[in-house]
Amino acid sequence: MTNPSPKTTTPTSDSPTQGGCPFGHGGESTGGASATSASTSANATQWHDAQLDFSKSMSYGDYLSLDPILNAQHPRSTDHNEMLFIIQHQTSELWMKLALYELQAARTAVHNDELPPAFKMLARVSRILEQLVQAWSVLATMTPSEYSSMRPSLGSSSGFQSYQYRILEFMLGNKNAAMLAPHSHRPDLYQQVEAALNAPSFYDEVVRLLARRDFAIAPERLERDWTKPTPHDTTVEAAWLEVYRNPSQHWELYEMAEELVDLEDAFRQWRFRHVTTVERIIGFKQGTGGTNGAPYLRKMLDVVLFPELWHVRTLL
Ligand code: HEM
Repeated sequence: MTNPSPKTTTPTSDSPTQGGCPFGHGGESTGGASATSASTSANATQWHDAQLDFSKSMSYGDYLSLDPILNAQHPRSTDHNEMLFIIQHQTSELWMKLALYELQAARTAVHNDELPPAFKMLARVSRILEQLVQAWSVLATMTPSEYSSMRPSLGSSSGFQSYQYRILEFMLGNKNAAMLAPHSHRPDLYQQVEAALNAPSFYDEVVRLLARRDFAIAPERLERDWTKPTPHDTTVEAAWLEVYRNPSQHWELYEMAEELVDLEDAFRQWRFRHVTTVERIIGFKQGTGGTNGAPYLRKMLDVVLFPELWHVRTLL
């Protein structure tokens, strides 16, 4: 096979010499003289009137702390695919950080009876989860052989030990005290996960809201052991039944119910894409975290976060 001949520098429609910014900003409308002079002069001092000197002001990278973020990828092997694996997990953790931030603020808003802002934040959490669902397609480009080559680099680390994920699960009511243990070696993180275990979940706050809106909720549902998973409560189900039968009279609660179903729907899709991606990459091998792998993750597909909201649909 012969080497392709070197490319000539003939300008293309998207090349800077046509007036478009190489990073996609600006463009033909702002091209003109400054663009041409910038592209033809080796010592360009102008480009579409953009600020080009950041020696005395905050730049994009400064504002976003890009140095620590973009220098936080440390593959432990020379395997090409390890970078994908690391970045996929890191970006998931960043999105989880935002989801938790929004969910915490939404819980406070519900507690204060400020529902419209809570709806906005819940919608954002659902869109974050949907984005994380789509992200599995990138990881699915990794084949079993590629994963096997980098698998030794992971040691015993696993998403199972993600403290942010565990806090998210706890905030959504899937409580399990056994899940605290992987964080014992980090008292600072343990404390955060434990606080989420001990606190009412987002849905517990919504059930209290139902009571404040004069629905007869069983007292033992309003004050319970918060460290236990969300129970199926008949008084809560009766409240949602009334809401769904008369949406116009209970519009805010109706909207809340649908926002929660949206959120759980997206969460279920995330779990499903996780287990499917895991099966296509490692089959039924044991997980790096020590569980039996795909069967464990399949069992998690049965988790129901907001039980009455699903059950009430049968009654309508
Ligand atoms: C090749 C890619 C992946 C494989 C083979 C994989 C495999 C597994 C397995 C087998 C488990 C069960 C626990 C264990 O024994 O390790 C697990 C749990 C988990 N993984 Fe992944 N995973 C992958 C990618 C990801 C990504 C990108 C994330 C995003 C953060 C993630 C997050 C989690 C979480 C949060 C758990 C705990 C789930 C639960 O306890 O319900 N995983 N993973």
